[in-house]
Amino acid sequence: MLKSAAFLTAGAILPINFFASFLPGLSNASDIFFKPVEPSLADELLLPEGYSYHIIRKWGDKISDTDYFGYNNDFVTFLPFKNSSGSINKDEGLMFVNHEYPIPLFVSGYTPEDHKAGLKKSEEQILTEKRSVGFSIFRIKKSAGKWEFVNDEKYNRRIDALSRIMLSGKAAGTKEVQFAYECAGTVGNCSGGVSPWGTILSGEENFQDYPDENIYRWNDSSTKLIDEHYGWMVEIDPFDKNSVPKKRTSLGRFRHENISFVVFADKRIVAYMGDDKEDECVYKFISSGKFDPSNPRANMDILDSGDLYAADFTNNRWILLDIERNEILRKEFNSQAEILVNCDKATKAAGATPCNRCEDIEISPKDQTIYIAFTNNKPKDDYHGSIIRLIEKNNDHTSIEFTWEVFASGGVDSGFSCPDNLYFDSKANLWVLSDMASGSINKGAYEPFKNNSLFMIPTGGSSKGKAFRFAGGPVDSEMCGTCFSPDEQTMFMSVQHPGESSISTNNPTSRWPDFGSELPKPAVVAITGFK
Ligand code: FEO
Ligand code: CA
Ligand code: CA
Ligand code: CA
Repeated sequence: MLKSAAFLTAGAILPINFFASFLPGLSNASDIFFKPVEPSLADELLLPEGYSYHIIRKWGDKISDTDYFGYNNDFVTFLPFKNSSGSINKDEGLMFVNHEYPIPLFVSGYTPEDHKAGLKKSEEQILTEKRSVGFSIFRIKKSAGKWEFVNDEKYNRRIDALSRIMLSGKAAGTKEVQFAYECAGTVGNCSGGVSPWGTILSGEENFQDYPDENIYRWNDSSTKLIDEHYGWMVEIDPFDKNSVPKKRTSLGRFRHENISFVVFADKRIVAYMGDDKEDECVYKFISSGKFDPSNPRANMDILDSGDLYAADFTNNRWILLDIERNEILRKEFNSQAEILVNCDKATKAAGATPCNRCEDIEISPKDQTIYIAFTNNKPKDDYHGSIIRLIEKNNDHTSIEFTWEVFASGGVDSGFSCPDNLYFDSKANLWVLSDMASGSINKGAYEPFKNNSLFMIPTGGSSKGKAFRFAGGPVDSEMCGTCFSPDEQTMFMSVQHPGESSISTNNPTSRWPDFGSELPKPAVVAITGFK
């Protein structure tokens, strides 16, 4: 059992509720409605009998007359249009996709050999890579039962690492961000969330890669990235093509994975977030302002004012990261902006719990408890990760006290490893996507799991906590960003970085999805067959 608490970094004390059998249980039974697929090393997107997929967009496809679909699609969400009556149009809307990072070999032609030889990237190669990341927004429509891309100049657009983006909130304009109110583009856009007012929040995760001398190196460019302008949550209104995205600095700067929202009874907004770095923390933000459901535009800057907390899993409490109201932080930091820009240091000083790489956080539609994926922490001997369930005191999301339990642990017994993205369907089945790093797949501790996979884990009923493999990914890929269409008959999903460990384009490890002599391409797929 001790392994189950492995998301806590060594030295943490187990809370008294570790064996949390007394916590409120979930009751609804959930049928397993598909025949699980076997672990596989096949270079294909494997689905259960009766299910099939088609591609909505893949790397390099046009999304408008001037823009193309970016690389390494991650977060995917569908935003339905509204009918004139105000009801949801189940068959038409916008798709929003994050493009997390380029693989230089396939995007700019900068090869691992070039890097090994110490060759610099050309300005043109860097520009090509900068244009391959960010967001794609485009219209999709269901016709004759099949979802398809629609070229609509009213909505379709790209945001990339060159786009103009504003800095907003408590750190904007301060010396900690070099007095800036705007910055160049967005990077590392991993997962994200949809706000209650209909905007998208996109997490800048591995922003640290680009100034380094690694294969992503953009520091040879004449336009260098300013470190403090990255590592934020970026908000964009996908329905307004002219809107300029804003980095919400009051939500803190760290390796953001995703964000999940609750509208509290008094209409304050509570948002949960995690830092996907080894030995970093879980956060929540409580807005000062109140959500106005009757006027979406009135909520546009609600994330600029409020309190940021980090979780202390030893003492079951949220620690406020505020210079005025936290004496410990006042001794070590000079301003709230300094705390927000250096969240990793502030959480350590304040006593928050270092965790084993927090990936996605989702809120159960059944009981509003919070499910958190910790993917792994190899230096701390946690190879397979776990999913925990956090229960706020009295189910009050503004409470500073909580309890928690382990919901599912990765490993050979459970059948999954390295949980990353999570998604709840309307029956509170938890869909879990694994992310064993592409260099680790089928090696050592990861051998039994074969290619990365998508699992369904019921949160109630007789199969509660058991993982059922729904899909297996192509070679080297990670599947991510899963969501359902409003009628839950189609699942949208990203297939990211197929063929990532290739060292040359002559002999790539994957040819998915076009096969033959084609190079691998990340793509967003629509999976049908759900009844
Ligand atoms: Fe980009 Fe934490 O996954
Ligand atoms: Ca992820
Ligand atoms: Ca998610
Ligand atoms: Ca991951």
